[in-house]
Amino acid sequence: MKVRVVAPTNIAVVKYWGKYELWESYHIPYKSSASFVVQDLTTTTQLSVEPGKGQLFFTLNGEVIPPESKQYRYVSTYVQKLRELTPVLQRYDLYVESENNFPTAAGFASSASGFAAMAKALQLVMKELDEEFYNAYMSDDISLSVFARLGSGSATRSIPEDGGFTVWWRGTLLPVPPERLNERSRKNVMFSSYAESLFPPQHWPALRIIYVKVDSAEKKVKSRAGMKKTVETNPLFKQWVEYEEREVLPAVIDSVERRDFERFAQLVMHCSHGLHAMMRYTYPSIEYLNDTSRKIMSSVEEINEKEVKAAYTFDAGPNAVVFTLQQHEAEVVSALREIVGKDNVFVTRMGKGARSE
Ligand code: DP6
Repeated sequence: MKVRVVAPTNIAVVKYWGKYELWESYHIPYKSSASFVVQDLTTTTQLSVEPGKGQLFFTLNGEVIPPESKQYRYVSTYVQKLRELTPVLQRYDLYVESENNFPTAAGFASSASGFAAMAKALQLVMKELDEEFYNAYMSDDISLSVFARLGSGSATRSIPEDGGFTVWWRGTLLPVPPERLNERSRKNVMFSSYAESLFPPQHWPALRIIYVKVDSAEKKVKSRAGMKKTVETNPLFKQWVEYEEREVLPAVIDSVERRDFERFAQLVMHCSHGLHAMMRYTYPSIEYLNDTSRKIMSSVEEINEKEVKAAYTFDAGPNAVVFTLQQHEAEVVSALREIVGKDNVFVTRMGKGARSE
């Protein structure tokens, strides 16, 4: 049996950073996050399953990924989690062939599109292999977003097929570990944290999302390790979480709903600064931005002097994503090209979520 799916990446405006440590393997985030699913940066995955001994073969961009590598371990840990939930999978070998159309692990959230594609592919396969399991756990986008989350947190926001502006709700943070609870209760917690699309791409047709490549080298501190350190050592982390949850997230949703670009832009940059402040105040301190990232910030601030026309955001890497409106696209793109060169600026817009091809 063979399925082929495509999943987009997404760019967070309200950031996810930090898993609830008591429920670590469930990937319950401390805070909700919100993002735009993008149209043109995608992972295409072909998954073939054949009767076998439960082995996993993985290729990425045409290269075989060896079992001892980190990337392989990420995927095999994910498959292992599913195998524990549905033993049927143990009787099959899985052949995963993924292609990204953008640099892997350079801060362009390849794990988001990668795991969203993987979850979507497994959904199609499970529909055939174990219908009962599929109906109980995977039959709609909300439950699929939970499965994607088990692979990589940010992947959950790439799942809703309507795409556009997606929110990942943080879910329930119970003050006891999962082992203390019965199965039903654990399941409730697991499914309390999921993503949904609040506004489809056609809600804001003028919005442009500009990817600015600063560096395509693999990042030094992986997000997973970095956020764990922040949770462990940053004394302001919980205040940031509550502030963003109560004040910032509702304001961002409202600004998108009203298509109020000025307010939206202020909030987007505020959220990016909040995230990087949390990273810097981690011990040992984490710095993902470099001089070129800072040049991009200054350039956007200059453009915005008289009228707010653009907003930058940065994740766990030096690359920027800049939001603007159609009428300012030429001006913003030309300023960004001055900094990073013509070929490193790529304009896209909101798109659909994970789907079969
Ligand atoms: C900075 O989703 O890569 O991009 O759940 O451990 O796989 P894991 O982390 P990951 O973290 C992404 C963090 C971020 C912000 C965001 O996308 O919200």
